[in-house]
Amino acid sequence: MTEQGSPRQQGNNLDPWYHHYAQRTSGLAASEVRALFAVASRPEVVSLAGGMPYVAALPEDLVVGAMHRVMREQGPVALQYGSGQGVPALREQILDVMALEGISGSADDVIVTTGSQHALELFSKLFIDPGDVVLAEGPSYVTAMVIFRSYQAEVDHIPMDEHGLIPEALREHIARLKAAGRRVKFLYTVPTFHNPAGVTLSWERRLEILEIARQNDILVLEDNPYGLLYFGEKPPAAMRSVERDGVVYLGTFSKTLAPGFRVGWALAPHAIREKLILANEAAVLSPSSFSQLVISEYLRDADWRGQIDTFRGVYRERKEAMISALQEHLPELSWTNPNGGFYVWLTLPPHLDSKAMLPRAVTELVAYTPGTAFYGDGSGAQNIRLSFCYPTPENIKVGVRRLANVINGEQDLLDTFAGTGPLSAPRTSRTSPNPPTDLR
Ligand SMILES: Cc1ncc(COP(=O)(O)O)c(C=O)c1O
Repeated sequence: MTEQGSPRQQGNNLDPWYHHYAQRTSGLAASEVRALFAVASRPEVVSLAGGMPYVAALPEDLVVGAMHRVMREQGPVALQYGSGQGVPALREQILDVMALEGISGSADDVIVTTGSQHALELFSKLFIDPGDVVLAEGPSYVTAMVIFRSYQAEVDHIPMDEHGLIPEALREHIARLKAAGRRVKFLYTVPTFHNPAGVTLSWERRLEILEIARQNDILVLEDNPYGLLYFGEKPPAAMRSVERDGVVYLGTFSKTLAPGFRVGWALAPHAIREKLILANEAAVLSPSSFSQLVISEYLRDADWRGQIDTFRGVYRERKEAMISALQEHLPELSWTNPNGGFYVWLTLPPHLDSKAMLPRAVTELVAYTPGTAFYGDGSGAQNIRLSFCYPTPENIKVGVRRLANVINGEQDLLDTFAGTGPLSAPRTSRTSPNPPTDLR
């Protein structure tokens, strides 16, 4: 009974309002990544799970100096509401950042958002009707899928290999969906240093995929948080650099500066830009004036390109630590070897289940994200996403060694119970030692 005495018959013991929620919230279950943060934050656990940038590599003075100058010189503006589209000076500077990836555009077509996550939300609000299909790589960025599902879209995964999304598979999926009368709204892609797969879409494929999208009247949502964090050669230019009208491009300062500012952006064709501004205003009135002005001041005053170089060096060293630890402790497995970004995608021996194995891993003081988190259809049990962005190289080595113990222990159990041999029996090679040719 409620206080007023009217029975709330629709609820359950955990949540009396259970049946009041809108249908679209049914996809809003806590993701594996989120649930992991609580466990993985214990100091004794080496977390290879989250995608947190290593902000300690950012000199504090640079940020504090920018903050002081903003407050001294523009305090009343910084503390006030601002434009729903974002601070004009910052939008101009964002053009300089995007130029590094081959993109030219107008500051008029840039909308500043509360992180690129919020741009994903606004874009989805504008384009997804219940029952629509969103095409995305398989695997795909988990929190984008949470948004797509919250707008009641179905995510259709397109397979990838070591060169990124496979154009032929994209063609097949579109044809099949169209034949079934499904409405495909857009292709969501992270073409450069993919989260979670770590692979990069080749230049030829970028052009081919844009052509397929054009032919089929499908908008491309290019999400590019990691493109500037390359370890050796520069990756191919952004897809938006060759296609203006059919691509909405998302960028962020989260990985090249710091996520705490919560400043990202969208670069959109004119008409879409108009709608994104209205949606941004409806959602937040204006993105944080303070954060935008501090970033603008940082970009004006600091050697931000040099700082991105520093981040590249930090992440390159960590990636190398992870790959050499994998080679040492799990030589018979396969994994991707990224040229930038934050993630390695590991393939387990057949029959091992990364999600089922996680509690044991946490007991052994290592955390990772199971591959199933990155699919909307239950695939991915044989995969693990390993993040090398946050732990030190030493901790990465410890974490991979612990992970190897867990995997080998699980394999031994499996061998024993499958009757394939005693615990001490030598195991035959489980998978190819080379990076996977297909991430399916
Ligand atoms: C592929 C991808 N898109 C978007 C985001 C969200 O970033 P932001 O901090 O800009 O909201 C992330 C964060 O990890 C990401 O990996």
